[in-house]
Amino acid sequence: MKPIIALLASSLITLPAFAEPWGNADPKPGKEHHDKACVACHVRLYGGDGSKMYTREARLLSTQLDVLQRVATCNSQVRAGWFPEEEAEVAAYLNQQYYHFKE
Ligand code: HEC
Repeated sequence: MKPIIALLASSLITLPAFAEPWGNADPKPGKEHHDKACVACHVRLYGGDGSKMYTREARLLSTQLDVLQRVATCNSQVRAGWFPEEEAEVAAYLNQQYYHFKE
């Protein structure tokens, strides 16, 4: 676990308040949307809890913006019917839980 104080301090110094492309979206409801609409298919492909989709060596994404865009694309592909706020919550969740991209 990263020292959260150091993390907060450095982001306060170097970044405006909400530098992430998902703004201040809450990752908690993001997990719920994601588990409802997305997990089953990733589990079919990768087994386990499906999270290997996000942690595999050959993963496709490398920035926060990639995560947000990918979530938006998947939302429309699988017709989850999410609003942009919900996409933002899911992107915030995936980055917090799996990707840990800083920019
Ligand atoms: C019908 C199956 C299916 C469903 C449902 C699905 N996905 Fe995926 N997802 C895939 C496949 C297949 C890939 C890998 C694409 C590739 O390798 O080109 C993928 C890849 C991804 C990735 C990129 C993984 C990486 O880092 O390489 C993200 C993020 C993602 N999905 C998010 C979602 C979200 C959010 C939802 C729910 C709205 C969702 N997926 C629903 C099949 C699915």
